[in-house]
Amino acid sequence: MERVRGVGPLSSAWKAEVIPLYNTRLHVRANSYFTKQDRISAVSKLGLYIHIPFCSQRCIYCHFATDTVHNDKHQLYFEALEREILQQKSVIDTPIHTIYFGGGTPSLVNPNYIPDLISFIRQNLPVVKYPEITIECNPESISKEKIDIYQKSGINRVSLGLQAWQDHHLKKLNRAHDIETFKKAYLIIKNSKIKNINIDLIFGLPKQTIGEWKKSLNEVVKLKPNHLSLYSLEYHPQTPLMGLRISNKISPISDSLDRRMYRLACEYLPSQGYSQYEISNFSLKSFESKHNLNFWKGEDYIGIGLSAASYFKGQEWENTIFWDKYIAGEIAPKIKISKNQIKLNKLLLNIRLNRGISSKQISQSKQKLLLKSKLIALKENRIYLTKKGQDLENQVSQILYT
Ligand SMILES: C[S@@+](CC[C@H](N)C(=O)[O-])C[C@H]1O[C@@H](n2cnc3c(N)ncnc32)[C@H](O)[C@@H]1O
Ligand code: SF4
Repeated sequence: MERVRGVGPLSSAWKAEVIPLYNTRLHVRANSYFTKQDRISAVSKLGLYIHIPFCSQRCIYCHFATDTVHNDKHQLYFEALEREILQQKSVIDTPIHTIYFGGGTPSLVNPNYIPDLISFIRQNLPVVKYPEITIECNPESISKEKIDIYQKSGINRVSLGLQAWQDHHLKKLNRAHDIETFKKAYLIIKNSKIKNINIDLIFGLPKQTIGEWKKSLNEVVKLKPNHLSLYSLEYHPQTPLMGLRISNKISPISDSLDRRMYRLACEYLPSQGYSQYEISNFSLKSFESKHNLNFWKGEDYIGIGLSAASYFKGQEWENTIFWDKYIAGEIAPKIKISKNQIKLNKLLLNIRLNRGISSKQISQSKQKLLLKSKLIALKENRIYLTKKGQDLENQVSQILYT
C-alpha cells in the first residue's frame, strides 16, 4: 500500500499532530444563486479547504501529508477530489464563504487544474457570490501565466511561503528557493490583479540570531504584503529536523530567545501598520484572512483531500492519510461531538483572537485561577490572553479543559 511519503513510517501520534494544523487553513467562495442578503443573513459561514499534497522537495521540518510524486499522479488526484466533492454534496447545504487551496504546494500542479476544480465546486456546492479564495504558493513554482490563470478563476488571495530572509537558513531547511527567487515571485504577484498577499515566516530556527529575525521582518515589511503569518519552529516526530536534533547535529534555540523573537514581531509589526488579530497572524486594516478567522471563531469547515479534516454541524471527521485508500474513495467515518465539547472547542479557538471573549463564557472559578496565574486579563467584561497567556497557551487550554 502506497502512502504519501516524506516523513517515514507514520505513527498514530504523528497523525494526531497533523490534523490540528490542517484545521488552521480554511477558505470560502460563493456562487450566483446567493445574493447580498444571503451573505448578511447566513447563520453560519462555511469554509472549504482543499488539500493539494504535492511538493517539489521536502523541507526538513515539515510534517504535513505531502509527497514529491511524479506529475502523472496529479490528474488522478484531482479526479479523486471531484469524487469526494460529489460524495459530500448532499450534506453541504450551508453557504460556503471561503475556499482555501492549501498544501503541500498548490502552485506546483498544472495551473489549469485549479480553475477547473473551482468551476466544479461552484456547479456542485452552494458557494456565495463573492467568496475569499486563497491559494498557497511556493516561490519556485510561480509564474505570471499561473497567477493570471488563478486570478481569472476567482482566486483573490495568495499566501506565499518565505520562512526566512537568509539563503543559508533556506538552504538548511531544504527550501526549494532562495531569496532572489522569492523576490521575483513576490513581484509577479504584486504586479498582478490579485491584491491580497500573505507571507509566511518561521522564527526560532537553529542558530538564528535576533538580528537575522529582525532583518526578515524589516525586509518583508518593505514589500508591503497585506498579511503576515509568523510561526515558531516546531520539531515534529519523524521529520529530518527531529532526526538532526536527536543526533545532536542541531540544537533548538532557547525558549527565552524564541519568546524575544515573538515579542519583537508583536511590537514591531503594529508600528508598521500590521495589527495582530490572532497569536500568529498580523494584517493591514481589513485584510484579516476570512477563512482562518472563521476557523478561530469556531465556524464549520469542510476539508476535501488527503488527510483533510472537517468540522460540520456537530460532527467531525478526518480523511485518510493513505494515498491508495484516498484514490480508491475511502470515506472517513463521521464522529458526533457533544454539545459541551463543541462549546469548549469554540472557546479554545476564540481565546486566541486578540478581540478576546465574553467573560460569561468562562466560569468564575476558572477566571479566578487564570487571573491569579496572570494568564488572562479582564477588561470591560471581556477576557484576553496576556503575553504570558499567549506564550503558555497550553496551560490556558488545560485549565479550560478541566
Ligand atoms: C504546510 S506549509 C504549506 C505552504 C507551502 N508549501 C510553504 O511551504 O510555504 C504552510 C506553512 O506552515 C508553516 N510550517 C510548516 N511546518 C512548520 C513547522 N514545523 N514549524 C513551524 N511552522 C511550520 C510554514 O510557515 C509554512 O509556510
Ligand atoms: S514546501 Fe511547504 S508543504 Fe512542502 S514540504 Fe516544504 S513546508 Fe511542507
